[in-house]
Order: sequence, then structure tokens, then C-alpha cells
Amino acid sequence: MKPLASFLFFLFFFNLIIVFISSFTSAYADDPVYSNFLQCLKNQSKSSTNVSNILYSRENTQYNSILTAYIRNLRFSYPTTPKPVLIITPLTPSHVSAAVICSRDQGLHLKIRSGGHDYEGISYVSDDAFVILDMSNLRAIRVDPVAETAYVEAGATLGELYYRIQEKSAVLGFPAGVCPSVGVGGHISGGGYGNMIRKHGLSVDHITDAVVVDAQGRVLNRTTMGEDLFWAIRGGGGASFAVVVSYTLSLVPVPKKVTVFNVKRFNATDLVYKWQFVMKDVDHNLFMRLLLQPVTNPDQPKGGKLATRVTFIALFLGDSDTLISVLNAAFPELGVTKADCLEMTWAQSVLYWANFNQGAPFEVLLNRNYTADYLKRKSDYVQEPISKVGLTLLMNKLVQLAKPGLVFNSYGGVMSTIPTATTPFPHRAGNLFKIQYSTSWKDPGQEAADKNIGLIRELHSFMTPYVSKNPRGAYLNYRDLDIGVNRNWTYVEGEVHGRKYFLGNFDKLVKSVVDPHNFFRNEQSIPVLKS
Ligand SMILES: Cc1cc2nc3c(=O)[nH]c(=O)nc-3n(C[C@H](O)[C@H](O)[C@H](O)COP(=O)(O)OP(=O)(O)OC[C@H]3O[C@@H](n4cnc5c(N)ncnc54)[C@H](O)[C@@H]3O)c2cc1C
Ligand SMILES: *[C@@H]1O[C@H](CO)[C@@H](O)[C@H](O)[C@H]1NC(C)=O
Ligand SMILES: *[C@@H]1O[C@H](CO)[C@@H](O)[C@H](O)[C@H]1NC(C)=O
Ligand SMILES: *[C@@H]1O[C@H](CO)[C@@H](O)[C@H](O)[C@H]1NC(C)=O
Ligand SMILES: *[C@@H]1O[C@H](CO)[C@@H](O)[C@H](O)[C@H]1NC(C)=O
Ligand SMILES: *[C@@H]1O[C@H](CO)[C@@H](O)[C@H](O)[C@H]1NC(C)=O
Ligand SMILES: *[C@@H]1O[C@H](CO)[C@@H](O)[C@H](O)[C@H]1NC(C)=O
Repeated sequence: MKPLASFLFFLFFFNLIIVFISSFTSAYADDPVYSNFLQCLKNQSKSSTNVSNILYSRENTQYNSILTAYIRNLRFSYPTTPKPVLIITPLTPSHVSAAVICSRDQGLHLKIRSGGHDYEGISYVSDDAFVILDMSNLRAIRVDPVAETAYVEAGATLGELYYRIQEKSAVLGFPAGVCPSVGVGGHISGGGYGNMIRKHGLSVDHITDAVVVDAQGRVLNRTTMGEDLFWAIRGGGGASFAVVVSYTLSLVPVPKKVTVFNVKRFNATDLVYKWQFVMKDVDHNLFMRLLLQPVTNPDQPKGGKLATRVTFIALFLGDSDTLISVLNAAFPELGVTKADCLEMTWAQSVLYWANFNQGAPFEVLLNRNYTADYLKRKSDYVQEPISKVGLTLLMNKLVQLAKPGLVFNSYGGVMSTIPTATTPFPHRAGNLFKIQYSTSWKDPGQEAADKNIGLIRELHSFMTPYVSKNPRGAYLNYRDLDIGVNRNWTYVEGEVHGRKYFLGNFDKLVKSVVDPHNFFRNEQSIPVLKS
């Protein structure tokens, strides 16, 4: 061996030995962050729970599986992604209270995670020394079919909520998101919409009470927290104000029979153009979502050329005969026939919209084990119909970019009549539809991420003339750190994203009373002082 090579060889083994010794010692050394936090939890503990069993440090063998169980975007699951110093998994509201007090006393930043669906991972990533408050064990659901209410804890998923509702009633439902793995805590505190939005509005339009833990560690309900905080946690994002422990929901009536369809069209510019006008005022029982995607052109399957395909997906709260007569009057060009329609119960439509096979058991809604992709999402609101010329350019742009897709979600219906200040969620009357920009990929390399994020940003920029302006609105639950990043906890930038997410309601989201020391903060939280 040459001297240099043998020296490197020696260095390599020397390092291995050092690594071995240090991992050996650290595994047994008393980690002061962990032991102080544990002692604090014990001091705070009002229950008989052995709090050692709800606190995980990096040395704990379960730390990794608990961390990754609710990571739904692989962009935030690299070995280099900042990891929490501790994870705490409360079983009771008093554990949540202790977690808040101990994080504050130990000077650790608390990040709250329920379903972990945040598109930018801000519920489980941070640049500083942080603790994850993982709510997944606080997930009780109690449905009262007589009172037509449900008590649901923040760690429950929407799938679990829908499952418990159909267990108790065939004529009750709840208007929330279509993806069953989404967590109640983030979803509802950020607004929450699904395919009953035109009939029943948002999830936050149906909340009658809540339990939260505030920055002082107090467990409060609607009466004791006061109406300002209760208003803020219905669309203002829970993580700026308090930990949401549970919501009490008022359920909505659903008919015994609903109808769905899914039809695909090419060369669909005229149909999309017409759809914009139809959905504003058509029967509130109808919701129609469009997927615009570049796919292999069926006319040139061998040539590898792409064409933009538009998928029309509908939920109608009624039978297929009524739906067909509604469509014949309002949208005959779409050419939907009874043969395209499927009649089913509302609960079965939940499975249909979540892409489960017909006849899958409702128990699939209870599954919590999903595989994740790398992804990036963005949002926009459209207030003026896009012209046919504009739509043609858009269809071509999607083919040119050859990757990102768009989802158009119809508004109108009751969204046009609920006053803007009812909840922090401001995008109501005056909006024809919301756009979600979407790209997902499987290649873990940085190049794939840069390419996909670049494409979606280009598409977003292309859409500028067609969407809301001054400010350009965005949906909080479609978290996008491209708008107004705030990593210094100073608030000039805070206003940029705050105005986009909340428009005029931003001024009503007052934090200084409930959290004057800005304990509840994240990359896009509401600032204490607005400039
Ligand atoms: C596959 C998929 C489908 C989706 N479909 C829809 C849809 O149909 N409709 C729709 O409106 N949205 C949809 N979304 C967006 C979704 O509503 C948001 O990502 C939502 O914030 C997720 O909530 P979570 O609890 O799962 O997320 P988390 O990542 O746990 O939390 C999101 C944010 O809320 C905060 N938070 C979480 N729990 C609490 C709590 N208990 N108290 C206070 N703050 C809390 C977090 O700190 C973070 O800031 C979808 C997202 C995905 C990934
Ligand atoms: C726990 O309580 C004891 C006794 O009151 C106190 O001395 C100690 O500082 C507390 N420790 C922590 C970490 O809160
Ligand atoms: C609490 O749990 C830990 C870890 O499981 C265990 O080592 C400890 O003995 C338990 N303490 C009590 C008082 O039961
Ligand atoms: C809210 O909390 C107060 C004080 O603990 C209690 O008296 C009241 O009954 C609670 N309200 C509800 C609806 O539970
Ligand atoms: C789209 O329209 C063009 C021009 O009318 C036609 O040639 C083509 O076959 C259509 N494509 C599809 C997939 O319908
Ligand atoms: C989750 O699914 C993966 C892949 O299908 C499987 O390997 C794993 O064992 C499952 N985990 C649990 C807890 O069911
Ligand atoms: C953070 O904000 C403070 C106060 O405005 C400012 O002085 C400081 O330069 C900022 N730091 C960074 C890294 O932006």
C-alpha cells in the first residue's frame, strides 16, 4: 500500500472507532434535553400515565417510525431534513397542556402535527431546536345521530370521521375534504372544503364548539376561550393561536341516494369555458371538479405526443334522473347520460371520490398507512371567466410543460352568500373556482425536485393574467412557502402571505391577546405585531 492510501485507510478506521465509541456513549449518556423535559412532564402530570411512554428522543428505537408515520411529502424526509429533538404523543388534554408548558420552559419550539398533510412539512420540520407534538393518539370520535353532532379529536382522520358517521346514520354527512388520510387538526383549523362546498360551505361553517390548549397551557372550550379565539381557529390556522384538541361539529343532512360521474374529454376548451358560467348558479346539490392533465394523445398513441385531457368529476346530492334534467337544462354540451351516472349512498360516494374500488368495505377509511410521494402544490382563485383564447393557451401550456396538472374546484352556491367575515377563510362571494396546481414525483434526487418545482412555478406565473389580483389570493391549507417566507419571526413578510391567505380578515386575526410572546409560531404564522 502507498503511504497516502494507508494513511487514508488508517483515518477511515480511526473514524469508524470514534463513531462507534460516541454512539455507544451517547446511547447511554443522560441526554439533558430529554431528561429535563421528562422531569418537567412528571412535574406537570395530573394523571397516572407513565409519561416516559409518551416522550421520544433520538435514542429511542421508536423515534424514527413515529416521526415518519405522518410524513406525507417525501421532500421533507431526507436524512438532511432537520429532525425534532423530541417527539411527544399526548393521550389526554392535560398531556397537551404539559407539552406546551414544558416546551416553553425548556426554550424549545413546539410544532403541532395531526395528520401531517402540510404540503410544506411545517408541522414536523423547523430550523431551530424543536419538539413535535404528535396528536395521532388523540383521535376519539363520538357521533350523536339524534343531536346531529359529532365530537372529533384533532388526531382523527377525515376517513375515520366519515366511517363513524355512516356507522350511526344513513342520512347525515359532513362537508370536508375528499382525501381520507387528511388530519382533522390541520384541515378544519385551516378551513376545509370538499365536494359539498356549494351546498354546505366549508367545514368551518359547521363548528359549534372546540377544546384548545392555549400558550399558558390552559385547557379551554368555546365559553372560556372567548369568541375571538374561537373565530380564529375556524380557518385562521390553529398553529398560530393554540393547540386544537377537539371540535364539535354539526352534521349536515344527506339524501339516501346520491349520484356520481367521471367523464373524460379531449379538445375540451369550449366545455371548460361553459363550465365556468354553469357552476356559479346551478343547483347547489351539484359539485363538479375538473382535472386538467397532459396525457398521451389518443390520436397519436405511438407518436408519444401529449394532449390535455379534462376529467369532469361530479357529486350530485340527489338521484340520477334529477341530475340528468339539471344537466340537460344547464350544460347539455357536456353530453353526460344516465349510463355515465352511478347512484349510491353518500358514504359510498366518499369511497368513490377517494378512488377506492366499488364494493370496497368502509373499513378502508380507517387505514392510516399510506405511502407518500415527493410533491409540490400551489393555489389560485379565479374571479372572471377565462376566455376561450386564454383556455386554449393554457391547454397548450400544459402540453408544453408535460408534467404539472390543475384541479378546478367549482365555487358558487352557498359560498356566494356566506359573508366574508363569518370565519377567517375569506374567499367566498366573487370567486368562480379555485385552482390547485399539482405535481408529484418518485425520483428522490435533487434534480427531479428542482425540475418539478420549476415547472409548477412556471405554470403559476403563466396563470397570472387569469387569476385574482392585489393580492393574489391563496388557500392556507394548500400551504406554499413560495409566498412570503418568514424565518426570522419578524413580520413584514408575515403580512405578505397573511394578506394572500386571509385578505381583509388578516386584520381581524389578532394574536397579541392570546399569545403575546409568539409561542405558537411557524414559517407562515400570524405575527403578533403587524407592520
Ligand atoms: C392528499 C391530500 C389531500 C387533500 N385534500 C384536501 C381537500 O380535499 N380539501 C382541503 O380543504 N384540503 C385538502 N388537503 C389539504 C389539507 O387540508 C391540509 O394539508 C391540512 O392542513 C392537513 O391537516 P393535517 O392535520 O393532516 O396536517 P398537519 O401537517 O398535521 O398540519 C397542518 C398545519 O396545521 C397545524 N396543526 C395541525 N394540527 C393542529 C392542531 N391540533 N392544533 C393546531 N394546529 C394544528 C400544523 O402545525 C400545520 O401548520 C389535502 C392534502 C393532502 C396531502
Ligand atoms: C420539577 O419540580 C421540582 C420540585 O418542585 C423542581 O425542583 C424542579 O426544578 C422541577 N423540574 C422541572 C424540569 O420542571
Ligand atoms: C415508566 O416507563 C419506563 C419506560 O417504559 C420504565 O423504564 C419505568 O420503569 C416506568 N416507570 C414507572 C414508575 O412505572
Ligand atoms: C366549558 O367549560 C366550562 C368551565 O370548565 C364549563 O362550565 C362548561 O360546561 C363548558 N362548556 C361545555 C359546552 O362543555
Ligand atoms: C381534437 O380536435 C382535432 C381537430 O378538430 C381533431 O383532429 C382531433 O381528432 C381531436 N382529438 C381528440 C382526442 O378528440
Ligand atoms: C404499511 O405499508 C407498508 C407497505 O405496504 C408495509 O410494508 C408496512 O408493514 C405497513 N405498516 C403497517 C404498520 O401496517
Ligand atoms: C431579523 O430581524 C431583525 C429585526 O428586524 C433584523 O435586525 C435582523 O437583521 C433579521 N435577521 C435576519 C437573518 O434576517
